[in-house]
Amino acid sequence: MQRAKLSIIGAGNVGATCAHWAAAKELGDIVLLDIPDKVGVAKGKALDLACCAPMERFDANIIGTSDYTDIAGSDVVIVTAGLPRKPGMSRDDLINTNVKIVASVSEQIKTHAPNAVVILVSNPLDAMVYTAWKVTGFPTNQIVGQAGCLDVARYSAFLAEKLGCSVEDIVALLMGGHGDDMVPLPRYTSVHGIPITELLDDATIKECSDRAKVGGGEVVKLMGTSAYYAPASGSVQMAEAIIKDKKRILPCAAYCDSEYGVGGYFVGVPCVLGSNGVEKIIEVKLDNDERTLLDESVSHVKDLVGIVRKAFPELG
Ligand code: NAI
Ligand code: 2OP
Repeated sequence: MQRAKLSIIGAGNVGATCAHWAAAKELGDIVLLDIPDKVGVAKGKALDLACCAPMERFDANIIGTSDYTDIAGSDVVIVTAGLPRKPGMSRDDLINTNVKIVASVSEQIKTHAPNAVVILVSNPLDAMVYTAWKVTGFPTNQIVGQAGCLDVARYSAFLAEKLGCSVEDIVALLMGGHGDDMVPLPRYTSVHGIPITELLDDATIKECSDRAKVGGGEVVKLMGTSAYYAPASGSVQMAEAIIKDKKRILPCAAYCDSEYGVGGYFVGVPCVLGSNGVEKIIEVKLDNDERTLLDESVSHVKDLVGIVRKAFPELG
């Protein structure tokens, strides 16, 4: 059987860590691509990772490159190219630089890997997914953004800490954009089927969801750059669902038109992920308060896309 192929654009912190998790899970052959100035870093990290194979027992060809012809035939491309934030910056402050990077990377993906499902990671996430969609012209199921897997994982980790239970038993849902106004949904969060609202008081749940909302910023303050272990883990969780056609239900930034009344933007919603990318969006019932929070978060996503449209009017 032919191995799957995963290409990762950007061999920095998130990109290299995606390669690490993907190799450990033996998802397939891996291409780690960066700009020509950084090709040594891409090649060096690929070589270093390939030398883990005898110990970690995975079979995969892992290469570093700056040549986009190497991504041909990819099943999945993960885009991590772009600046990360520094202390004091919001994700939105990256938009003017990263939109140019993501647009140029998307042109290359369109040419060299037209059948790949593309997972965007670069920030500000929801606007970068939109950019990639417009530039590639790919069908909406083929373009998706990673944010929800990370945000839900943070929320779950904080809940498990409060409960003193295994994170494995927490199933949580969170929607909206990848900003501090993301919308955790305690009504749809359970511990092995027991609603979280039965086990923790409102104040404790709010403490966990508030911490998840600013979880990215908490790491930036500590490290001086943004997180990468958990973001890469979330991205590879999505890649695995696609490569293995698992039909997992994961929160992803997916194109919503009539869904949730969003009207043609990528926002975080529960999706079925399989070999065709986003195979279905699941619409859950929201109460009035949840609906208001989601609308606020979506309106922030629309503002960011407005900035992209202004910078690149040809994207429409
Ligand atoms: P990093 O600075 O460690 O790596 C970024 C890499 O992109 C660098 O190696 C750089 O040379 C490369 N790059 C820049 N322009 C490129 C181009 N045109 N083509 C190919 N590669 C290019 O940054 P890090 O920490 O890996 O973060 C990457 C991006 O991911 C940032 O925008 C960050 O904000 C975002 N991020 C998103 C998360 C999410 O949940 N969606 C979570 C964490 C980070
Ligand atoms: C995070 O949430 C920076 O988006 C990145 O860690």
